[in-house]
Amino acid sequence: MQADLDYVEAFAALDWQIELGATEAIGDEPLNRYEETPEAAKPAAKAAPAIVRAPAPEGAPVAEPGGDATLSQAVQAARAMAAAAGDLASLKAAMAGYEFCDLKKGARNLVFADGQPGARLMIIGEAPGRDEDIAGKPFVGRAGQLLDRMLAAIGMARDQDGDGAVYIANVLPWRPPQNRDPNADEIAMLLPFLKRHVELAGPDMLLPMGNAACQALLGQAGITRLRGNWTTALGLPALPMFHPAYLLRSPEKKREAWADLLAVKAWLRDGGVPPGN
Ligand code: URA
Repeated sequence: MQADLDYVEAFAALDWQIELGATEAIGDEPLNRYEETPEAAKPAAKAAPAIVRAPAPEGAPVAEPGGDATLSQAVQAARAMAAAAGDLASLKAAMAGYEFCDLKKGARNLVFADGQPGARLMIIGEAPGRDEDIAGKPFVGRAGQLLDRMLAAIGMARDQDGDGAVYIANVLPWRPPQNRDPNADEIAMLLPFLKRHVELAGPDMLLPMGNAACQALLGQAGITRLRGNWTTALGLPALPMFHPAYLLRSPEKKREAWADLLAVKAWLRDGGVPPGN
């Protein structure tokens, strides 16, 4: 857009874009406004690197020079910060203070968790989308509403206690630009926080939803093959399931999702014996 565009023209251009269906003031390319200078701001900025070069906290090992040196530094820092968190509130504060992941800069909110800490069932999703980024809570958009209906169908809800209780978090606490998939570096550097999150929440079983959660927790993707098969993640029984966003796009898969939900319900009811064992 021209720099000398006057107010009326700028307003008309914005109005026109809204008419066309634009809902967010974002460009095609991410712009790192922390690094913006008047000169750098003029041309289209290149995508920001995934890792911010911040010093490791005291006690963290010094990174080795090399291609993935800063990733290892970021992972070490996350491990140290996560290990130091003694409860969920301190873990949330530690994540809010983690400066190695660029996603934080483009996000409105840290999306930490929802539901009941201590619930027997912990659901792990992928990453916040637009609605979650605005609300600061996981699974509040269309996929989240479907998730709530799925849980209700087996007598569970985020605001319920006892065996109907559920606790929900994501692999990434910040929204990736344009809802792209989490990349391997982002998963690696945020995994120590997720692991600590699970330890502190203390569920009896995990429900990884979709490929990113399976990649993070099981080290493998391929949800079509993994779903419905009991496995172990972080030392806990885990049942991979289709992600609700996928079920919205492929409603014919709801049948398998329903079978998985019934398996979860049976497991919780029967005191933790995976069906078939
Ligand atoms: N999809 C996710 O994986 N997590 C959310 O919080 C919302 C949508």
